[in-house]
Amino acid sequence: MRFTLNGLGQDIPADWADEPLLVLLREHIGLTGAKFGCGVGICGACTIIVDGAATRACMIRSGDIEGLNVRTIEGLADADSLHPVQQAWLDLGVPQCGYCQAGQIMAAVALLEETPDPSEDDIDAAMDGNLCRCGTYPRIRAAIARASERV
Ligand code: FES
Repeated sequence: MRFTLNGLGQDIPADWADEPLLVLLREHIGLTGAKFGCGVGICGACTIIVDGAATRACMIRSGDIEGLNVRTIEGLADADSLHPVQQAWLDLGVPQCGYCQAGQIMAAVALLEETPDPSEDDIDAAMDGNLCRCGTYPRIRAAIARASERV
């Protein structure tokens, strides 16, 4: 079994097929950007993009991503430049503790790829399931609006 991870082919070992994709990414492949928060699809800390859609990596069985296109925070930046969403996050100093922020950024990227010029309601709807215990929501909204001017 294989899938595409940040543009490159990646094997899914048979003995990892029943593990959540989040576990495969973090413990087998070594990509630790997606975080384990709740483990039950509620907090959004593990958000990645699967075939263009923001997806909870804790809720997908690794064996079920065969042939799909998976993107994680590690694949966002080019060699020389950050993704516009990452740059907006940096410009506005969005993170506080930072734990949820990779998931927030991936949810924002998926939103802007689907809706390049989102309204405030679009942003609120897309980001609703990504929780931040530090309450960085106003800066997240502002950073998405800033990034939308650049994507
Ligand atoms: Fe996946 Fe919380 S860890 S949604």
